[in-house]
Order: sequence, then structure tokens, then C-alpha cells
Amino acid sequence: MSNKGAIRGALLDWYDRHARALPWRAPPGARADPYAVWLSEIMLQQTTVAAVGPYFAAFLKAWPTVADLAAAPREDVLRAWAGLGYYSRARNLHAAAQQLAAMAILPADEAGWRALPGVGPYTAAAVAAIAFGLPTNVVDGNVERVMARLFAVEAPLPDAKAELARLAGGLVADERPGDWAQALMDLGATVCTPRKPRCGDCPLAFACRALAGGAPETFPRKRAKPVRPERHGVAFRLEHGGKVLLVRRPDSGLLGGMAALPTTPWRETPWTAEEAQAHAPARAAWRVQGAVRHVFTHFALMLEVWVGEGAADGDWTPIADLPRAGLPTVFRKAATLA
Ligand code: ADE
Repeated sequence: MSNKGAIRGALLDWYDRHARALPWRAPPGARADPYAVWLSEIMLQQTTVAAVGPYFAAFLKAWPTVADLAAAPREDVLRAWAGLGYYSRARNLHAAAQQLAAMAILPADEAGWRALPGVGPYTAAAVAAIAFGLPTNVVDGNVERVMARLFAVEAPLPDAKAELARLAGGLVADERPGDWAQALMDLGATVCTPRKPRCGDCPLAFACRALAGGAPETFPRKRAKPVRPERHGVAFRLEHGGKVLLVRRPDSGLLGGMAALPTTPWRETPWTAEEAQAHAPARAAWRVQGAVRHVFTHFALMLEVWVGEGAADGDWTPIADLPRAGLPTVFRKAATLA
């Protein structure tokens, strides 16, 4: 048997025994609902299987079909997404659902899915393989790590991406494309893990060049990362009659379209009290309640929280309802800071 045949056989056999039972997954060999596969893959971008589980269930319960999701008010979709992060995904999901609902039949290939908002090459390939059984090359961070180790690729990420995708593509075949893609993901998530790979349990150990070299955990090589800058802001919790003022963030930009506390802009230097005051939603005897820190992809935010009593026009939410008000995590933390 060729090396390709041996690697494929070993991994698919392993998958038959160890596939994770995930809510969006059909059993090995079966096809899943394309809507559920697409929804799960959007949620799983940059988010762990454990975090996605309850959101996936809640979405399918609220909107069992793509037509239901398309017909939902966007605010409901954003509220249901609150806490999952990367909120442009929710805006794109809703826009894509409306495009899909307007089609006579769902796209059945990679190019058709790729044309939708929020669907990149990875997601299009994953949906085509998992829901339609097409032999696409599905490459996410897990698959890159598995390839870097299997072939001991010395070039560092991100430069090595094209090479790792080419190596992954060399292992794709017509048999069981969806299982193959998900077997690689599961291997990366449960065995070929970033820090302490469990090579003793790996079905591909026999072929792994990084393991043969003695230090598989040092792959993939990485270029030194720039340090994450810190930004500063002040969030205002304006209270009146047991309620708190919430605003909706502009569509463009971070946390676009999401409910939030009013804030100053976020900048590299801390705010003085006088400077911050100018951005407050009302005149009030503000006092500093504390601060929350939240790490975004490209910076960490230090958000001071001010509390005051006063009146202003806007959307007032009862204090008791704040945990369920559809706030993204950073604002849920800030609004409920004791
Ligand atoms: N990560 C992204 N997509 C996945 C899938 N279909 N199964 C497991 N992990 C995943």
C-alpha cells in the first residue's frame, strides 16, 4: 500500500472507533443536514467545540430551518449569539440565511457556499465535504498542525500555510470525504494537540516524521508573534429606577450591531476623569466601580466601569435582566461588575 493509502486507512479506522459524538454530526458514513453543518462550521470558526455546543442547540431550536433563520429579526439572532464572540459572524450568518432562503435549492458545491457572506475557503470546503460528500481540501489550524508534524515542515507559520494546504490536499481522496475531514479535525483536537500530543495513542505515529525526529510538540514552527497592545476605555453604567441604559454599537467595527454600555472610544492611553466625562451619556455624580480586562484578537482592553444615577433617552433594561440582555461578554462583565 502506498504511504497515502496507509495513512488514510489508519486514520479512517481510528475515526470509526473514536469519532466524537457531536450534535451537528451524522454517524460515520452518513450525511448531515447542510443547514446544520453550515451553522456549526460558522460557530466553530475560532471557537471550541465545548463553547459551541449550547449555542448550536439553541439556534436549531429557535430556527430549525434556514428559512426560519432568514425570517428572524436580526436583533434576535445577535442576542442569541451574545457571548460566543466574533460578532461579524452573526451578522453574516443572518445575511447569508436570507440569500439561501431566496434560492430554490441550497448550493451543493464549494463555489456556491463560498459566495455567501462569512463563508471563507475553509468553511466552504467543510460544508461541501461533510454535507455533500465532495472530496475538498478542508484545512483549519488543527489540520495545519497535523500536517506540519506528519511531514516535519520546517517553514514557520504563517508562511508555511500554502505548503501545509498542499500536503493536506495530497491526502484527500474520493472515499468518505466528510469523515476524512472530520477525522483530521478530531485527531488535531484530541490527540495531536498543540502542547502535549498523545503520540502513544496516534494512529499516524507510524508515519510521523516529527515524532521520528523526537520533538513533535515543537511543530508547527512559528514566527515570533508581535506582543498584543493594550487599549483603554471607560464604560458608563447609568442607572435610573432600577434600570440601566444600553446602546447599540454601530454596525461597522468591533462588536458591531451588539447591545452595549455607552463607552468612550478605546485608545492606547488611559483616560483622565475629565476626558472621559465628555463621553458620558448624562450628567451624573459618577464613581468608579472597578475595571474589567478583556482580550480581543488584536488587543487587550482595560475597561474602567463608572456608575452613576441619571436620566437619558435610550434603551433601559432592568438590572435583573442584564445577564440575559444579549450583551457580548466584555459588556456583560462590565454591566454586572459588583
Ligand atoms: N472544528 C471545526 N469544524 C469541526 C467539525 N466538523 N468537527 C469537529 N471539530 C470541528
